[in-house]
Amino acid sequence: MQGRRILIGIGGGIAAYKICEVVSRLFQAGVEVRVILTKASQEFITPLTLTTLSRHRAYTDEGFWQPIHARPVHIELGEWAEVFVIAPLTANTLGKLAHGLADNLLTNTILASCCPVLLAPAMNTEMWEQQAVQRNWQQLLTDSRYHSVGPDAGLLACDRVGAGRMAEPAEIITSIQSLLHTGGKQDLIGKRVLISTGGTREYLDPVRFIGNPSTGKMGLALAQAAKHRGATVTLVHAPATWEVPLGIRAISVVSAAQMQQAMWENFPDADLIVMAAAVADVKPTEYVAEKLPKQLLPASLPLEPVPDILAELGHRKQPHQLLIGFAAQTGDIVTPALEKLSNKKLDGIAANPIDQPDTGFGSDFNQAIFLDKNGRKLTIEPCSKLQLAHHLLDFVKAIN
Ligand code: CTP
Repeated sequence: MQGRRILIGIGGGIAAYKICEVVSRLFQAGVEVRVILTKASQEFITPLTLTTLSRHRAYTDEGFWQPIHARPVHIELGEWAEVFVIAPLTANTLGKLAHGLADNLLTNTILASCCPVLLAPAMNTEMWEQQAVQRNWQQLLTDSRYHSVGPDAGLLACDRVGAGRMAEPAEIITSIQSLLHTGGKQDLIGKRVLISTGGTREYLDPVRFIGNPSTGKMGLALAQAAKHRGATVTLVHAPATWEVPLGIRAISVVSAAQMQQAMWENFPDADLIVMAAAVADVKPTEYVAEKLPKQLLPASLPLEPVPDILAELGHRKQPHQLLIGFAAQTGDIVTPALEKLSNKKLDGIAANPIDQPDTGFGSDFNQAIFLDKNGRKLTIEPCSKLQLAHHLLDFVKAIN
């Protein structure tokens, strides 16, 4: 995100304090951040806070007519921004945007800009559920310029538990990253995407299992990227430490057999299927229901193979479906990936090295060589898993 230009408009709500973290994290990632505060937002946080965090003057209504480079502030900022984030979005600002009204620096800058706008609503549940507020919200989202993140449900500052809590900073930043990649295009609207992720586990007894170090972050990033591009996403995931974001249908599994069943059930409805899961290839032939004392653990463990889920899907695939695999490899990553592409009847495969520092298993970064059934090959240098996910979706869209 180095050098990218993000404009953040802060509305008057207690969630404004969370935006300080967003601004700080963006700045640390090398992003140029500019901030506009409404009058009401300054009841919660100060321009000085945001000036300090963004290392740049924070803009307020008082400075509306203090030009930047001899140009009006709202025009200059509107043209400058690559992505405009409104967080927290209050019922009042939402109402104004839905009706094209502008009576302060924030709303005037929105009308003076044409970049994608990311909206992060935050309000009390009663306010959020008002018919008028919901009407405004739905109406605003019919405009392709506007994108949403949240609101989540949970404990609110008014002590209510319900919908209306602003999305967490990490989720807002992920949405910003997607918008920077796509420019706001939603090229997967109407598509159903099925993704598997994480390391499956094959238990020997209730406490011991055969597994692998996969954390499932790659599949999570793929699910987020596909959702941000408009797809309906189902994520079949093995045990994970992260939470599945709102708007993604999650199916939690443990073993390869459970993953196989979940993939089979959801496969017929899917247009694009990506097996990012690291399936444990074998399981103990016998499961013992009580924890085995260590003296009784066998010196050698009889094993049997688990089903190859991807190969089975490859044989059942319909012509309109695209099936993509992953190949986590060491050494030469291309030759075995090409074999898997062909043997499992895939449309494409992402070969990623797991013997490089700070990429692959457990990392937030990855690198890969994408290969398709028509001989296309694309090398993606180390980048965030979300960026790699977007590159893979771009690559997959061009498979014919
Ligand atoms: N895969 C699968 N079911 C398995 C094993 C693998 O669906 N039992 C899928 C993985 O999700 C991945 C692809 O097949 O998309 C390749 O997995 P990988 O572990 O690299 O290859 P394997 O086929 O297991 O072969 P090997 O372990 O010998 O490299």
